[in-house]
Amino acid sequence: MYTATDNIRADASRAGSSKKQAVQQRLITLEPEQAEWFSQSPPTDLWGMGQDILELEQHVPAEITVRNRLPDPSSVHWHGMRVPNNMDGASGLTQQAIEPGSSHTYRFTPRDAGTYWAHSHHNTYEQLARGLYLPLIVEESTPYPVDHDHLLVLDDWRVNSTGQLDLESLGSMHEWTHGGRMGNLLTVNREITPRLQVEAGSRTRLRILNAANSRIMTLELNGLQSWIIAKDGQPLTKPLKTNGSLTIAPAERYDLIVDIPADWQGEQPIYETSSKTQLTGAFWQVIPGNERSAVRQDPQSLPANPVPVLQGKQPDQQAQLLMTGGAMGGMRSAVYRNTRMSAQKLSVNKQAWAFNGVANLPDTPLLSARSGETVEIEIINDTRWPHGMHLHGHHFQQHGSDRYEAGIWHDTVLMEKNEKLTIRFQAGEPGKWLLHCHMIEHQAAGMATWIEVTA
Ligand code: C2O
Ligand code: CU
Repeated sequence: MYTATDNIRADASRAGSSKKQAVQQRLITLEPEQAEWFSQSPPTDLWGMGQDILELEQHVPAEITVRNRLPDPSSVHWHGMRVPNNMDGASGLTQQAIEPGSSHTYRFTPRDAGTYWAHSHHNTYEQLARGLYLPLIVEESTPYPVDHDHLLVLDDWRVNSTGQLDLESLGSMHEWTHGGRMGNLLTVNREITPRLQVEAGSRTRLRILNAANSRIMTLELNGLQSWIIAKDGQPLTKPLKTNGSLTIAPAERYDLIVDIPADWQGEQPIYETSSKTQLTGAFWQVIPGNERSAVRQDPQSLPANPVPVLQGKQPDQQAQLLMTGGAMGGMRSAVYRNTRMSAQKLSVNKQAWAFNGVANLPDTPLLSARSGETVEIEIINDTRWPHGMHLHGHHFQQHGSDRYEAGIWHDTVLMEKNEKLTIRFQAGEPGKWLLHCHMIEHQAAGMATWIEVTA
């Protein structure tokens, strides 16, 4: 089981009472924390949010106070949550950063149950690399029938020879123009090879999140029978059997159902194979089961969230997004802050990528749509690198990529080099919504734009 903090336990009283609390209140403290990763060196200094997980109830208004006890300004983005625009946490676009020593309260009602995450959206390339994120679970009102519910939050840290985070290499232009910052230490749930306890023959819901800055992770489930029941928080209409291996771009989430074989025992590895070497991310710690019958029904689907249905609707607004730049991309110039610049001048400004010829946020949106209109954006990856594209405040369906089944909802999609796909969604809450690459170094170096939704 994932651990609930006192903060969450304090709320347990509501569970028993038939009368729902009017507001679910939470407190998040952005603060330094330490990880005991290496027996040979002192604890590693990280930044964190003061707890392991944030749990919210669907449809109940939430009031989340964020206290900043870090030396730097920050903000919190509720990745994948459909919140009012001024609660989106995108510093510089939807709010001012929260200064050190002060706090900020976010108010929204979780519309969708599922697996989400909260993370810093201010100097994200640095703050995410330091660990400033938190998995966020919105519980279904009727619990899904499983024996266990485990989190698997993958991260990729870069530590130096003294066991501390390598902060000197933050901002490396070489990395920003290539695949982004890659780490040298894999953790799961911020631990090195944690044990997930399960009984032989039991069924587990596994909530997987890739919290790395830029590493695309590949999980190998070691022959386990598994089904995808949700992607980026949103249930699949029908559980989809996996072949035991799962590629996950930064910020993507998968909810899986896995059945632990009745004859398993002891420790069984879960591998991560994105690098040349096969790494062990975590272990199943299999304890004897109660001789459950080996015959199980296939898992049922989760109840759908109230995401607007798009079937058959012609788009009201369309746009094209051409992604260019990066190493070997041959981009000669782009507009940055309203000025056309040569690649060399862009590089001085730490810019290396462009959307439709513009590096970083343009003054005018990629498109403007009225709330409720159907929007279609064709995204063309004309670079030599894969990218994980994320749209704030909305879930979309895609076509054009065969990586994903048709009809699945996403807030983030992985695109291979030279790949092209089209996303489709209904414009939601009015405001300014970011559309950016979630390889955070690419975002910082230019891969960001925004759309406008009007009332
Ligand atoms: Cu996960 Cu712009 O964010
Ligand atoms: Cu990218």
